[in-house]
Amino acid sequence: MSMITIRPIKATDLDDIVNIAITAFPFDEQWVYRYPYKKQFPEDHLKFTHLYYAEYLNTTFAGQNTIMVAEAPDLDDPTRLKVIAMSIWDNPGNAPPNPDLPAVAPPSNHPERRDCNPARLIAYSASTMGTRKALFVGKFGQRQLSLRQMATLPDYWRRGAASTLLEWGMERARREGVAVPMFAGNMGKKLYEKFGFKELGIAHVQVEGEEEELFMSAMAWDPKEDELL
Ligand SMILES: CC(C)(COP(=O)(O)OP(=O)(O)OC[C@H]1O[C@@H](n2cnc3c(N)ncnc32)[C@H](O)[C@@H]1OP(=O)(O)O)[C@@H](O)C(=O)NCCC(=O)NCCS
Repeated sequence: MSMITIRPIKATDLDDIVNIAITAFPFDEQWVYRYPYKKQFPEDHLKFTHLYYAEYLNTTFAGQNTIMVAEAPDLDDPTRLKVIAMSIWDNPGNAPPNPDLPAVAPPSNHPERRDCNPARLIAYSASTMGTRKALFVGKFGQRQLSLRQMATLPDYWRRGAASTLLEWGMERARREGVAVPMFAGNMGKKLYEKFGFKELGIAHVQVEGEEEELFMSAMAWDPKEDELL
């Protein structure tokens, strides 16, 4: 809604985006799949999620990613603006796998964290990397503004925060002549379909010997194709 504004992330937003991730992503299948022990080890979950986003801020300020946040009046104190949603994008030219990535390490997996299933982290990376290469790089080359993450605080769902952030990315993609690829879970898929994203394929993740498996929809929106409609 009109009360929502967006802006690039600042270093002081770190705690807010960690809180958004920790409260919103458990509704996304991939998070539950990768961090099945988050309830047993809440201190690890917080510590390593914090570290993960701190690393993301480094690569962002190094020019590799863009993080846009959405703000809205705080429900508990409407005189105050609160960061209620975040979106993380790989700047065009930095979409992995790219052998020319800048000399800043992308966020690491931290397999020592006790809240995760390390084998699943590896399988997840391998599957998404393979799918990125086969479907996204195969179709768009480096002509892509990859959407890595999107999340809104549950108390602020269905107020248009994710839509506003997505529209920002689609506008940028249109201006720069690039596509917007991403992986969607069941919740995200509804949002992206509404904006005309198309499914290019399915990423499947499964650790050998485990019954649990994860499916994600590999989706993309291309302004070039949109114009033809
Ligand atoms: C998916 C998510 C980011 C949407 O955030 P949001 O700020 O509530 O999104 P918006 O208010 O802009 O919703 C836009 C549209 O998406 C669809 N949508 C969003 N949430 C939905 C839900 N729970 N059920 C059905 N459709 C939904 C609707 O079409 C909605 O438009 P409408 O409200 O006019 O019907 C949020 O639910 C979330 O953080 N989920 C957990 C994390 C996650 O799954 N992230 C996406 C990973 S791919």
